This record gives sequence, structure tokens and C-alpha cells, in this order.
Amino acid sequence: MDPVVSRYAQDILDSEEMQLEKQIPHHGKVSCFEHSLAVAETAAAIARKLKKPIDMASLVRGALLHDFYLYDWHVADPSHRLHGLFHAEKALRNAEKRFRLNEIEKDIIRKHMFPLNLPFPLYPESWIVTLADKICTWRDFKKNRAEKKALRAEKKAQKNARRKKEKDAREKPRGKNERP
Ligand SMILES: [Fe+2]
Ligand SMILES: [Fe+2]
Repeated sequence: MDPVVSRYAQDILDSEEMQLEKQIPHHGKVSCFEHSLAVAETAAAIARKLKKPIDMASLVRGALLHDFYLYDWHVADPSHRLHGLFHAEKALRNAEKRFRLNEIEKDIIRKHMFPLNLPFPLYPESWIVTLADKICTWRDFKKNRAEKKALRAEKKAQKNARRKKEKDAREKPRGKNERP
């Protein structure tokens, strides 16, 4: 883990809600916890490259909490409708109840789905997280696609091996006393 994340956000990582996020699927097999941590680390890496003054504490705290909506959006429930549009506001409400947030952290969480959610992010930290979120989401989808492809290839190989075994059994030379 990037040390900057544990330095500024150990309390968030240790919270019951973040631990619960480990059980919440976010993109395929990637949990909400994994995704949020990846976004925080990616955001920190981008910030370092920019070489501009960035509030690293707000950046990683906002990034870790950007998807703090705390439900499985795959479960059919009227409250999960239009998840993509509304989860940023839900995440912000949950995060405000649980942690003391500054204006940068609130903006990061509320605007992370930009341009799906308007208005524009207000701070450089918010722009960095919205970019980091898109990079990580793309990586999550790529990882899931690669896993599905590997699984399909494995199933195909097993099926072919089974067929070959059956064919070999059929073609096996019969013994002297065996009737055809
Ligand atoms: Fe999100
Ligand atoms: Fe996200």
C-alpha cells in the first residue's frame, strides 16, 4: 500500500464501513474496498507527477471515500435505481455522517462521476480523483475481461480433454473374447 494512504487515512481504512466494503462487489470481482484503495493510490501517484501543491491528506481521504455508498448495487432494489447517477450523493451523505470532512473532500466525493454528475469539480484534488477513478474503472473492466477469457479457455480445454478421452475409449482395440 502507498504509505501516503496509511499516513493520512488509517482511521478510514480501519473503519467498520470500509471493512464492509471488502464484501461489496463494485466492478465484477473487484470489491468496493479494492477499487477505492486503487483510486487513492493512483490519485497520489498522479499528484506526485504534477509537481504542484496538492493537499495530499484531502486527496487520499476523499479518494478512499468517493464510493462510500455501502450497498451492493447489483441487488435489484428500488433504492439502487440509477446507481451511476446518484451514488456520489449517497456516498457523501454516508461519509459526512461517519467522518469530519473538509470542503475539498466533499467536492471530491460529490463530483467524482463528472461529467455524469455536474457541476465541474472545484479543486485540483477533485480533478485528480475523477481521473484516477476512470483509470481504475478501466483497469477493473480489463481485469474482469481477462479473467472471464481465461475461464472460458480453461472450460474449453477441459471439454476438449473430456471429448478426447471419450473418443480414445471408443477406439480402444477390443480384446480377443470381446464381442463387437
Ligand atoms: Fe463512483
Ligand atoms: Fe469509483
